[in-house]
Amino acid sequence: MREQIERLKKEKDVVILAHYYVDGEVQEIADIVGDSYFLAKKATEVNQQNILFCGVSFMGESAKILNPDKRVIMADEFADCPMAHMVEIERIEEVRKEYPDVAVVCYVNSTAEIKAYSDVCVTSSNALGIVKALPNKHIFFVPDNNLGRYIAGLLPEKNFIFNDGFCHVHTSIHKENVEAAKKLHPDAPVLTHPECTEDVLEISDFIGSTSEILDYATNSDAKEFIICTEMGIFFELEQKNPDKKFYSVGHRQFCPNMKKITMEKVVQALETLEPEVILSEELREKANVPLAKMLTIAKQAEAAK
Ligand code: 13P
Ligand code: SF4
Repeated sequence: MREQIERLKKEKDVVILAHYYVDGEVQEIADIVGDSYFLAKKATEVNQQNILFCGVSFMGESAKILNPDKRVIMADEFADCPMAHMVEIERIEEVRKEYPDVAVVCYVNSTAEIKAYSDVCVTSSNALGIVKALPNKHIFFVPDNNLGRYIAGLLPEKNFIFNDGFCHVHTSIHKENVEAAKKLHPDAPVLTHPECTEDVLEISDFIGSTSEILDYATNSDAKEFIICTEMGIFFELEQKNPDKKFYSVGHRQFCPNMKKITMEKVVQALETLEPEVILSEELREKANVPLAKMLTIAKQAEAAK
């Protein structure tokens, strides 16, 4: 299948983008693998006419929003992130009425429609810098409650309004699971994604996005780590650090939607160039405003480093 994929990619002028949470064998055949921010940024830099996304719907939508002239294809059209739907447009409008100067900050794990009603997008790796750079005092953070609360804790000068969305994968990692893993591996630092609940973040040694966890583990002198995020990350962690050990905290670190992406589906999508991500031009243009704003602010912050 690998050879077939390589041949089809060239024949059909396709670049494959994959998130770290898909299976290792799919990460291996992808041209670009990354966390949500890296993939959104890279999607604007590719030369191929077709982008095949191995990830969930909101990622494919973001690639399409940023690249209206390219054909964006999903490896599985039903791979969707439940959290991406967890705020009502009516709620956003209500908060806007209550706080006229509010900035609606939208985690990229959201539908194109929610983005269209927001002021700026963020990912877990750039949320802190972007919210900090906003002039607004009031911040309505959607849809993820946990990431919102984590960022709020780092920015006491802002007034956050929270929403009750959550990632069922990260919130199923319980404090008790982490404590049990710590007992078994007392020397291993705990590396945690900010989509986890506050009590888990409190007992963690490092909190960061998928890429930040990878960088931390790779650059650390420690030899073993407890990992609190989706298990797909173990593939790259082990590739980059063959001499280090990585422990999960149980069997629940598994995103069933990310795992819908299989090699067979990749081949099929390459053969047919379907299913294509379709967005109306009106929606695309509206959703592009906060997404492009995120990329601009993040680039400025990177340049200033
Ligand atoms: P990041 O890629 O920003 O770490 O997000 C994690 C996630 O849940 C993606 O679905
Ligand atoms: Fe959504 Fe969580 Fe799966 Fe990421 S890991 S796609 S946030 S359900």
